[in-house]
Amino acid sequence: MSNNNGILPAGRQIVVSGVRPTGNLHLGNYFGALRNYVKMQNEYDCYFFIADLHSLTTHPDTKELKENVLHVASEYMACGLDPNKVVLYCQSDLPQTTELYLFLNMMAYKGELEKTTTFKDKVRLQPENVNAGLLTYPVLMAADIMIHRAQLVPVGKDQEQHLEMTRTFANRFNHRYGDVFPEPRAFNFGEQLLKVPSLDGAGKMSKSENQYATIYLSDDDDLIRKKIMKAKTDSGPTEPNSLKPDYIENVFNLMKLVSQQDIIDKFEADYDNCNIRYGDLKKQLAEDMVNYIAPIRQKARDIRANEAELNIILKVGAQKAAESADKTISAVREAIGLKYF
Ligand code: TRP
Repeated sequence: MSNNNGILPAGRQIVVSGVRPTGNLHLGNYFGALRNYVKMQNEYDCYFFIADLHSLTTHPDTKELKENVLHVASEYMACGLDPNKVVLYCQSDLPQTTELYLFLNMMAYKGELEKTTTFKDKVRLQPENVNAGLLTYPVLMAADIMIHRAQLVPVGKDQEQHLEMTRTFANRFNHRYGDVFPEPRAFNFGEQLLKVPSLDGAGKMSKSENQYATIYLSDDDDLIRKKIMKAKTDSGPTEPNSLKPDYIENVFNLMKLVSQQDIIDKFEADYDNCNIRYGDLKKQLAEDMVNYIAPIRQKARDIRANEAELNIILKVGAQKAAESADKTISAVREAIGLKYF
């Protein structure tokens, strides 16, 4: 296989990705990432984890941590991730990651860490808590990826720099101590990677920005309706076949995710004929969105309600993750020269 430096036996490629348990999953996560994870689970050896340790860099208060971790795990499974096909675990249940993090910290330089975009952003956002964990966030992320010697990491654009740093650390390690790690690269589905527009016509849906412009998988039916009815529109085109302004294009794009083709065609034709009624369009979109999300939300609730079962899933996930992690740690210790007996 070309991109594993010949370090790993040929076989299925290894995929790793993580999500911080700091907020609900939204439609952007669903169409942008989760649906692709679900596709990957049949073709790759996938490790998906909940990055609870990373969340400590920004959320020192842990009162809601456990609930958030279980919530994310439930939503992942409700979206179709099957714990029998992927290794689903919680980051803090795999202490091998933190051991590798320590080794990698010895080859991560203060200067390069300080230059990381996400670090600079966080310094601005939380000047009262610029902790060393925040500075070494990319090192922990590299450890997450390298602990399974992953080749493929499905992440969004905002994580590219971290991935670049992971490659740097992997190469540095190999150079210093001998080949242990492949070079991981970003994995996305190219054109299939959907960007879900936000409802206020500005950018895409995101966890942190305008909450009313983002639809969460946990939103109840009425909230979904309310958010959609508030989506930005105008009084409609005055010239036949006009170009759509961005915010109108966005609403149509949302329709394309959840509505039937004939319904979309009808509203497209109304638009082109200048007799579109955005109130009707939004009502239709709201119902189609409700019908799309309600079963996922219900499934997540059902999974979350069976906590004993959920605990077993995460425990078995951690055990499976440990099998792969132990092999890496053993190779790492050997390469560094930390085997005394
Ligand atoms: N930093 C990622 C984010 O904020 C989460 C993450 C942590 C991650 N470790 C990872 C993603 C390893 C991919 C691989 O979204």
